[in-house]
Amino acid sequence: MLKLSKVSKIYEGKVAYRALTDINFEIEKGEFVAIMGPSGSGKTTLLNIISTNDQPTTGEVEIDGNNPHKLNKNALAKFRRNELGFIFQDFNLMHTLTVEENIVLPLTLDGARVKDMKEKAKRLANSLGIESIMKKRIYEISGGQAQRVAIARAMIHEPKLLLADEPTGNLDSKASKDVMGMLVSINEKERTSLLMVTHDPQAASYSDRVVFIRDGKLHSEIHRGESRQAFFQKIIDMLSLMGGDGNDFSSVRI
Ligand SMILES: Nc1ncnc2c1ncn2[C@@H]1O[C@H](COP(=O)(O)OP(=O)(O)O)[C@@H](O)[C@H]1O
Ligand SMILES: [Mg+2]
Repeated sequence: MLKLSKVSKIYEGKVAYRALTDINFEIEKGEFVAIMGPSGSGKTTLLNIISTNDQPTTGEVEIDGNNPHKLNKNALAKFRRNELGFIFQDFNLMHTLTVEENIVLPLTLDGARVKDMKEKAKRLANSLGIESIMKKRIYEISGGQAQRVAIARAMIHEPKLLLADEPTGNLDSKASKDVMGMLVSINEKERTSLLMVTHDPQAASYSDRVVFIRDGKLHSEIHRGESRQAFFQKIIDMLSLMGGDGNDFSSVRI
């Protein structure tokens, strides 16, 4: 589904900085993978390269058989809209629009029929438990609701790969659990592949596999077994084994 081969990234500047070194990495269709690592380890760089917001310096990215970095501008815009979904820490919603308008926004870009868009939005809203707030504006709803709206917007094109950067970063622990539960249910029902960067071991424990990166290199990975609680503990143990500068996981919510 997603394959990275020897991906390296060097940020050019007065002093060139090597942010990623020889990353080989694969995600199977329907897999849910979390990426963790200390701040500055290259997580956002990696996500930006996969989401095609940034180019690798060397190496190849393959998503569902295509190398998006080789597409021209128009084809790339279409590819991003149809194949990828994005979820961000700060939700990235349009504050003055309603929930419904935000959800259908990606479809309006494709010139879809209003009736079809509304039906699709309604189905998604029902499955995410936000059908009662469709007419509200973003500034009138809670963070947890906003992230569900963002998930609905990301899912409206039925993407094959959902990319999430700290999706629970601005949520309290109850809202985090709800949002993670919904991501898992989408992953299971739609078989959408999911790649999530997170600092939060609780959130990571919902994934099938956690990949740890450090200093721009793959460090290790662990798989979820039977119990989420045991997986959570394994994640905590790995994070403490990796160390860091002591503040990296200060935002950990236990
Ligand atoms: N645009 C850039 N120019 C130069 N250096 C950058 C740029 N973006 C990130 N870096 C550096 O690359 C390293 C990895 O950054 P990043 O991918 O944001 O890490 P993370 O998301 O794990 O905190 C950091 O040392 C950061 O300072
Ligand atoms: Mg980052």
